[in-house]
Amino acid sequence: MLKNTAPTTTAAWQKLQAHYNLVQPQTLRDLFANDPERYQKLSLQFEDFLFDLSKNRITPETLDLLVNLAEEMELPAAIESMFRGEKINVTEDRAVLHTALRNFTDAELLLDGADILKDVRDVQQQMKTFCDNIHNGTLKGYTGKTFKHIVNIGIGGSHLGPQMVCEALKSYQQPNMEVHFISNVDGTDAAEVLKKLDPETTLFIIASKTFTTKETISNAHTARNWFLEQAKDQAHVSKHFVALSTNTAEVEKFGIAPENIFRFWDWVGGRFSLWSAIGLSIACAVGYNRFEELLRGAEAMDKHFRQAPLRQNVPVLMAMLSIWYTNFFNCQTHAILPYDQYMRLLPEFLQQLLMESNGKSTDRNGKPVTYQTQPVIWGAAGTNSQHSFFQLIHQGTILIPCDFIAAAVSNNPIGEHQALLMSNYFAQTEALMKGKNQDEVRTELEQKNMTAEDLENLLPHKLFEGNKPTTSIMLRQLTPYNLGALLAVYEHKTFVQGIIWNIYSFDQWGVELGKQLATSIEKELLSDKQAEHDASTTNLIQYYKQHSN
Ligand code: F6P
Repeated sequence: MLKNTAPTTTAAWQKLQAHYNLVQPQTLRDLFANDPERYQKLSLQFEDFLFDLSKNRITPETLDLLVNLAEEMELPAAIESMFRGEKINVTEDRAVLHTALRNFTDAELLLDGADILKDVRDVQQQMKTFCDNIHNGTLKGYTGKTFKHIVNIGIGGSHLGPQMVCEALKSYQQPNMEVHFISNVDGTDAAEVLKKLDPETTLFIIASKTFTTKETISNAHTARNWFLEQAKDQAHVSKHFVALSTNTAEVEKFGIAPENIFRFWDWVGGRFSLWSAIGLSIACAVGYNRFEELLRGAEAMDKHFRQAPLRQNVPVLMAMLSIWYTNFFNCQTHAILPYDQYMRLLPEFLQQLLMESNGKSTDRNGKPVTYQTQPVIWGAAGTNSQHSFFQLIHQGTILIPCDFIAAAVSNNPIGEHQALLMSNYFAQTEALMKGKNQDEVRTELEQKNMTAEDLENLLPHKLFEGNKPTTSIMLRQLTPYNLGALLAVYEHKTFVQGIIWNIYSFDQWGVELGKQLATSIEKELLSDKQAEHDASTTNLIQYYKQHSN
């Protein structure tokens, strides 16, 4: 079982606090100037990846001390507990085994006496056969036409992962196959997607772990009604609707035939589920073999995470860096900046992964934590983001650690675009690190034809403090395999942070209250019923009722 201690009570934490007082006043410029080996000491390689941590506000000793903290919090034992399938998701009494979905070894993995890897392989075979039959035209719609459109209907973990991966792997997409996503309960989402489609050539994938999520079920009904408007006969539904779920009873109630259900299990968390049947839309988009490459990339990172010493362990160091900034520098946000248009949905995916997992304020003893947990995750693709919010990262008042992610080889090598993109990728982390001091700004302004007074007035506005921490993650090329490995880094980072913060990362009770209230308010909105609310909510509902008819 997991150790259950506040990290702040460890000896390592106290040492880190003292160490922070030494590191905090130092500038990255000085740290680089004083140690010619800094890059070598603070960068790591894994297969096709380079992780450069050297532009962070750390020294090699910081990493040593952070690793001591991880050891004191018994991280290695926790990692083993997860991989072995112990029920570390205590508040839901579940194991956490998304790693089993990409475990291609011959070993058995027993959970409650049964080998779950066998079940995993069975569903993978079912997915493969299904995808192959879609692509080779064996599976057809009710009028005998082959499928051209796949629509994934899901939300949260049943949407963000598949959508992000389909977008990231667009250059690997099967010909004549388009994938669409409906997630929001706002009817506009379904309306805008459906108006582009032809029911005869469209396959709907209803993705919901619980199959009780209101948004997904109502979008699924809307899609079925839309389909039946043209297809007329209920019997045709079975040819056009499949479900991905752990809840076969609810799926059958919806009217989807048992043979059209792709199962997964309660030991797969929603936000960790793209590797399971929830990835069916990905497999349909890029072909099953490429989906398997994605899994194999994640498996390679799983092995690294499980076997590499903590001090050389990529997800561990990334997680511990985040602890360093959150708990010692008091940073409240962390930016994810993919310099790759295909990876533009990565920040949204990571928002759910990290914030739904670690946005907790109760520790594993059931007591309020006395330290910060998950910072806000946000971000957008470069270079667009440079022209919107980078101003604040460079010259604002808050310190924002950033992950800069890019692939060396473009999947669309057009003219000089890649060199242009990458020049910005390198320039931004250099600028954030170095900044521009008084002397540099003055020398620059002196070359312009301006009065001394104008120069002095302008100078403070053109200063860049620098010393802004960034982690550069570079991969050789965005392939399914490399994407799998990258996503596994962030999954394991999420896990490690939860272990250090002594919180439960795999439940999400915080989303329940709003769901409960919405269910009762929905009844009020659809009837004359009026329930008791606070004055604000009552008046808002009244205003809505008056104006919506
Ligand atoms: O609302 C939160 C949540 O439970 C997520 O954790 C989950 O990924 C999402 O809803 C969708 O759930 P389901 O797959 O059961 O429809």
